[in-house]
Amino acid sequence: MQPPRVVGHVPLVGNLYAMRNAPIDTIMRTLRERGDLTRAEFPGVAGYFLFHPDHVRAVLVDHARHVSKDTPGFVALRLLLGNGLVTSDGAFWLRQRRIAQPAFHRAKIFALGARMVALAERTAGEWESAARAGSTVDVAESMMRLTLRIVADTMLGADVDRDAAGVGQAIGHLLHDLNDRIVRPWLPPVSWPTLRNKRFREAKDTVARVVDDAIATKRRSPDAPGGEFLRMLIDARDEESGEAMTDQQLRDEVVTIFGAGHETTANLLAWTWSWLSRAPHVRRALRAELDAVLGDRAATADDYPRLPYTRMVLSEALRLSPPVWFISRRLEAPLRVGAHTLQSGALVFLSPYATQRHPAFWENPEGFDPERFAEGASAQRPTLAYFPFGAGPRKCIGETFALVEATLILATLARRFEPDLLPGHVPVAEPVITLRPRGGLPMRMRAVGARSA
Ligand code: HEM
Repeated sequence: MQPPRVVGHVPLVGNLYAMRNAPIDTIMRTLRERGDLTRAEFPGVAGYFLFHPDHVRAVLVDHARHVSKDTPGFVALRLLLGNGLVTSDGAFWLRQRRIAQPAFHRAKIFALGARMVALAERTAGEWESAARAGSTVDVAESMMRLTLRIVADTMLGADVDRDAAGVGQAIGHLLHDLNDRIVRPWLPPVSWPTLRNKRFREAKDTVARVVDDAIATKRRSPDAPGGEFLRMLIDARDEESGEAMTDQQLRDEVVTIFGAGHETTANLLAWTWSWLSRAPHVRRALRAELDAVLGDRAATADDYPRLPYTRMVLSEALRLSPPVWFISRRLEAPLRVGAHTLQSGALVFLSPYATQRHPAFWENPEGFDPERFAEGASAQRPTLAYFPFGAGPRKCIGETFALVEATLILATLARRFEPDLLPGHVPVAEPVITLRPRGGLPMRMRAVGARSA
């Protein structure tokens, strides 16, 4: 017997329209109405949606050696990220991961804390002007700019405001475009001379220019502050052959870190502000922790373990609004799931968004409640009922970077500002590879509490 179908199936195109027009609604209805294992059809491709934490473990952990990233989503992403860490597979991926891993060591990330806070203070200055002028701020855009500044400074040693104008918009444009290519497979390939492809290439060139400049600058002055990650990639040598990365490899890794390292954290923070604005008691508890731990002084990386409630707020925002809401793999060997054997070659789709709202594992799944992440509270849940950073060998390499960065940013801004959603504005999630608030997040900026030095 076959598993039930994903909802919204129509002849010829299968589930393509449903997933293109209302992806979130489609996966949530499928989970509610059809259960944990369902089959989906797209033109020329079949696949399975798996929602149960045991299935997540089966795909990402137990069967990790027998799945690949040969899926439409990753094929499209390769147009931007080349063969970098997110998109590569097999022995090549493993070698690159080993090279990159030391740069993400906890102590190295903590050492970047002061620069993260300094850049968050710059945003605080911008918010203060807006609060004084009584104007609204697009908080999604503001967080995107801040995390871009941070990844550019700490990882590449570049100043986006000075040297890399336009790179944020270029990445945003590319992600939108790539998402379209995934859900509209009939679009002309990128090599064809269409207007759309011309704009795609221009945006890609903008990113490549910034990255090439950063690489050239670091090669000229390797000891200049900033850009530690880039220096490590430039210096890395293959253990066996002693060879350095080719320029192309270097560029792919840098674009990957640049893209993966800011867009996701920016969306997490944007959603966090939006949830806080709708949960005044959580906002009060957060302020109370920040006042008690920080008082009037600026946050430092050493405060990270001292801010448990701040981290719980972020964990809950990651549960309800996971920036990576959908993960795909191709099975390279059959996989047994319950009573079903999924054939080699099939696509499998997992969704942190759906599993993190699975009613069997989460009480009041739509409610924003950071207490779910209080010490000891997760003991009743299967570990992979929650996987905003993925799991297994392909788990996010930047998890600590993202959590330290988001905690320091939230701590810096939340004790001085309470952004409020505009009356009547209900943020809508737009899944464009990452989960963004559609049309940005305009918020009224209100200054509160202490100013730091
Ligand atoms: C809240 C922020 C973030 C979230 C939610 C997130 C989420 C994820 C997820 C779910 C994966 C696994 C994808 C899969 O299995 O197909 C992943 C992989 C990855 N992430 Fe993140 N990420 C975040 C921040 C970052 C940051 C800050 C960096 C770098 C500075 C980063 C770099 C990467 C890389 C390089 C991979 C590929 C790892 C590999 O396959 O070896 N991410 N991320």
